[in-house]
Amino acid sequence: MTQLRIGVIGTGLRSSIARYWHNPEGNSVVVGAADVSLKALEKFKNEIDKDIFVTTDYKELLEREDIDAVAILSPDYLHEEHAVAALQAGKHVYCEKPLAITPEGCDRIIDETEKSGKHFMIGFNMRYMSMYQTMKEIIDSGVIGDIKAVWVRHFVGLGGYYYYHDWHGTAANTTSLLLQKASHDIDVIHWLTGSYATKVSAFGGLDYYGGNQPNDLYCPDCELKDTCPDVSLQKLTQCAFREEIDVEDNNMLIMELEGGIKASYMQCHFTPDYSRNYTFIGTKGRLENDDVNDKIYVKTRKSGSWHEMSDITYEMKKMPGTHGGADPRICQDFVNLVLYNKQPLTTPFAGRMSVAVGCAATESIRSGGKVVHIDQGRHNPSLSRKEDTIYQP
Ligand SMILES: NC(=O)c1ccc[n+]([C@@H]2O[C@H](COP(=O)([O-])OP(=O)(O)OC[C@H]3O[C@@H](n4cnc5c(N)ncnc54)[C@H](O)[C@@H]3O)[C@@H](O)[C@H]2O)c1
Repeated sequence: MTQLRIGVIGTGLRSSIARYWHNPEGNSVVVGAADVSLKALEKFKNEIDKDIFVTTDYKELLEREDIDAVAILSPDYLHEEHAVAALQAGKHVYCEKPLAITPEGCDRIIDETEKSGKHFMIGFNMRYMSMYQTMKEIIDSGVIGDIKAVWVRHFVGLGGYYYYHDWHGTAANTTSLLLQKASHDIDVIHWLTGSYATKVSAFGGLDYYGGNQPNDLYCPDCELKDTCPDVSLQKLTQCAFREEIDVEDNNMLIMELEGGIKASYMQCHFTPDYSRNYTFIGTKGRLENDDVNDKIYVKTRKSGSWHEMSDITYEMKKMPGTHGGADPRICQDFVNLVLYNKQPLTTPFAGRMSVAVGCAATESIRSGGKVVHIDQGRHNPSLSRKEDTIYQP
């Protein structure tokens, strides 16, 4: 095979990444798409290619012999169904995060991947951002010593817009928003420390969104639209204060990782600004990122070595492409995986572990903060994971 022919399931917001796969003269091309919404399919055709095959039944897409691989960009609660069906149809799979909305769903996908002998890749694009690659390189260099503590603060500005005005707002669709945004962050904590979480305790609540508005209320039809602070008149327009909303908008987790590393993660969906602030503290120093100003700071403590003579500030360069240049890279890595058997930076098992932690933390929150041990799964091959590498374009 010299060109990977890709079909897309789910042509909503995330389907904008398909443009990085659509290179009719190159080594990958988008040849079809499935979505239950004709409007979404029409928009996708206009963006990619008017002549591609489209259908409202994803099974028709899977039957096609001119499709080698499928990109699953559908809502979270459908990943398991779509991934298992695609593997059973003999397709290679790229699946957006979270892998599924339960650890059992993830295990089913991994079982099916092993049975099928096909390639499967999880869309952890944060691993492909130069900031997190650089942080990984710094930690692996040993300059801050052995990691003992990790503190992560996640300010999800625009949280209401992206997570409370559509399907994301209910536990039936997502389990909780700790599987949404946090599945990336829990994964980055695992990846950068080289250790999976073993137990978690968490507190959280629905402190701002949700309420008693009817479930079928849309902002453009609402009598409060001129005064509501969270009115949304374009794209995602369901009321953010509707009754069915039951996923926490304010979460705090503390975790213990393999090797006794302590980690915390805080996520708030009603902050005015958007940013992720990570601190890793090691036995010789600490590392902190500043994604507002595109900098990483390394501070070393008194260690009797040359390292203590200076602190270092890294200035991140701007990379072309969405998500800080991560999306074109992760798309290319999926093609490289299938065509050239090149191991990507992620594994399905890493996808499974971030879901397992997100689900355990949700259980803890909803039962008053009890300590929940993380089910380590039956697929954990070893702790020396292949994905622990620095990205080589
Ligand atoms: N890695 C990232 O940076 C990133 C960013 C955004 C979204 N995502 C992930 O991508 C996925 C999609 O998110 P989104 O924001 O595009 O959502 P979306 O709601 O905009 O799009 C989902 C699409 O799936 C379609 N769909 C629903 N049921 C379907 C079915 N049975 N068959 C086929 N299509 C169906 C919907 O009509 C919609 O067009 C989510 O899992 C999300 O977590 C990842």
